[in-house]
Amino acid sequence: MRGDTVICEKDNYQGTLNRFTRLGVKMIGVPLDGNGMRMDALEAALKDCKAHGVQPKMIYTIPTVQNPTATIMPEALRLEMIRLSEQYGAPIFEDDCYSDLIWDGKRPPAIYALSKSHNVIHCGSFSKSIAPALRVGFLVAPWSIMSRMLPLKTDAGSGALEQMVLAEYCAPHFATHVPALRKTLRGKVETLMEALNEQFGTAAEFEDPKGGIFLWVKLPDNVDSMKLYQAALKEGVAINPGPEWSTDKQHAGARLRLCFASPTKAQIRDGVAILAEVCRREFGVPTRIANVEKARA
Ligand SMILES: Cc1ncc(COP(=O)(O)O)c(C=O)c1O
Repeated sequence: MRGDTVICEKDNYQGTLNRFTRLGVKMIGVPLDGNGMRMDALEAALKDCKAHGVQPKMIYTIPTVQNPTATIMPEALRLEMIRLSEQYGAPIFEDDCYSDLIWDGKRPPAIYALSKSHNVIHCGSFSKSIAPALRVGFLVAPWSIMSRMLPLKTDAGSGALEQMVLAEYCAPHFATHVPALRKTLRGKVETLMEALNEQFGTAAEFEDPKGGIFLWVKLPDNVDSMKLYQAALKEGVAINPGPEWSTDKQHAGARLRLCFASPTKAQIRDGVAILAEVCRREFGVPTRIANVEKARA
């Protein structure tokens, strides 16, 4: 509801940020490290809310291949999040829509599965593993919560036909389709990382992701990714500018999210080359010398 407070990862899925904004919800963005949402910072945020008499309505998290950072929260930190959520009375919304897309297929247990206190809502989707156009996802929640959510449905729900098609496809194919998809995606991200290293040299910083469909890239501080987005779009290259993917616009000013799911490897290489040219023209980086140095290293 308008005026409610939600705690979430600072860098976050644009769709969620937009929805919270439209609803007039106050977002408290918690910084991340290589293991996802930082638990010390989450605890500080919860303490701060309590000190100000604010009860956060939920902790919204993407613990498995976080969008956009691609971090995976280890089991120990999931347990710590559960402990904090119970201590401060803030339920967890676990958005787990990328959990099928980890390269080695091994995922930590869902927060929902680890929790014993019935205060976790788990959300999954077939958009990433099968097809976004089907619009089929799912929620898993204790009945005490589900019974309160169901009356909020404003339509008759997901189409039955799409669910029947999905069921028919998944029974014989899901187990082989997903590993093949993961292999394709891994190949594409390797091409993307190689292209970035070749074209941007040391100017582009990123972690090798363990899964997913996107790479979160940091460029030098003088790059304004909103301007880069506009300029690159004119040349036919679409990027996600960092400020649209963060509760902290300034922190994300020089960051971009590059999605590698749809383009071919050739399109990825060409796109990165164009992006580097545009970035050089607009912001003077990457310099050509940096490229040569990195290529030689
Ligand atoms: C974290 C996250 N949650 C939800 C969604 C939306 O997925 P769906 O197509 O199932 O609505 C996305 C899509 O990009 C996402 O990244």
